[in-house]
Amino acid sequence: MTTFTPRVFSGVQPTGNLHLGNYLGAIVRFVELQKTHACIYCVVDLHAITVWQDPKELAANTREVTAAFLAAGIDPKANIVFNQSQVPEHAELAWVFNCVARMGWLNRMTQFKEKAGKDRENASVGLFAYPTLMAADILAYLATHVPVGDDQKQHLELTRDIAIKFNNDFAESIAGHGYGEAFFPVTEPLITGPATRVMSLRDGAKKMSKSDPSDLSRINLTDDSDAIARKIRKAKTDPDALPSEVAGLKDRPEADNLVGIYAALARVTRDDVLRDHGGAQFSAFKPALADLAVEVLSPVTAEMQRLMADPGHIDGVLADGTQRARAIAAETVRGAKDVLGLVRSAG
Ligand code: TYM
Repeated sequence: MTTFTPRVFSGVQPTGNLHLGNYLGAIVRFVELQKTHACIYCVVDLHAITVWQDPKELAANTREVTAAFLAAGIDPKANIVFNQSQVPEHAELAWVFNCVARMGWLNRMTQFKEKAGKDRENASVGLFAYPTLMAADILAYLATHVPVGDDQKQHLELTRDIAIKFNNDFAESIAGHGYGEAFFPVTEPLITGPATRVMSLRDGAKKMSKSDPSDLSRINLTDDSDAIARKIRKAKTDPDALPSEVAGLKDRPEADNLVGIYAALARVTRDDVLRDHGGAQFSAFKPALADLAVEVLSPVTAEMQRLMADPGHIDGVLADGTQRARAIAAETVRGAKDVLGLVRSAG
């Protein structure tokens, strides 16, 4: 078995409205993983343009996501932080994966179905091929672990299928070029913790999302303390008190969501939260949650504002990360081309 050096990769789209789901489901975990792994974190601007983006807003949002990474505590010197479009190898490898992945695999992707809606004929080809670019993001760095929220699970399964098929289809060439049994690793998703699926504050059956028309449904990373407290106060709940055990949250999606958010913000488990707050009415639990959310989020928000006031610094971080990312991705793509039999004629 070929062994791969452990490496973490993940990405966030610069499509505006970064929210508590992105923060707790992904960014907080990115910060934790840098203690134990070499990490690469990417602002995936090529994914963003699978639906139309205002160019000025796209640029501002790319800097905002970068600022969120830094404000949350990602160290861009010890790790790599960059934006996808500046490393052309992502698009190049995505093409190769378009030729490896099968139509049937992509046809099964639920995110495409949700995003394209009823008017599928009018969706961009890029939106359909979105998961092959995501596989390229990950595999360009031979990443072994990918922290994401629950909604990305199917895309990561596809990434694994692509790696396995590439390794099988070209097994002889891979071995012949000295790569052993596998050219690409079969990446492990890291979907853990109490906040892998943060739900809307207005509807416990819907995921918290940047595209929800109701701003009350989500806590944005740019919200001030008053807005955070107001949104939690207005969050939908049921009339019962909190249970003392996790089993009591079954069939109570709104209660489960608020307890999960509390647990993730306090870095404890749902059991811990219920040990302290079981029996409490929402009239008492919501203010406690609002205080905690403000305590945890306001330093991040303030640091984001500070960083965004200096776009030159952010661009410098991205430029440095791009250079280091490109060195790794270029080596992978060079190897993949050799394996595929694409003749190396230039330089
Ligand atoms: P994106 O930009 O939609 O979301 C960024 C991260 O936030 C997580 N997330 C959530 N987690 C918990 N609860 C929620 N309500 C919630 N909403 C979003 C997402 O799961 C994600 O981890 N396709 C990806 C971006 C991507 C990527 C990659 C990720 C592109 N290439 C390679 C990993 C590896 C996306 O659209 O995430």
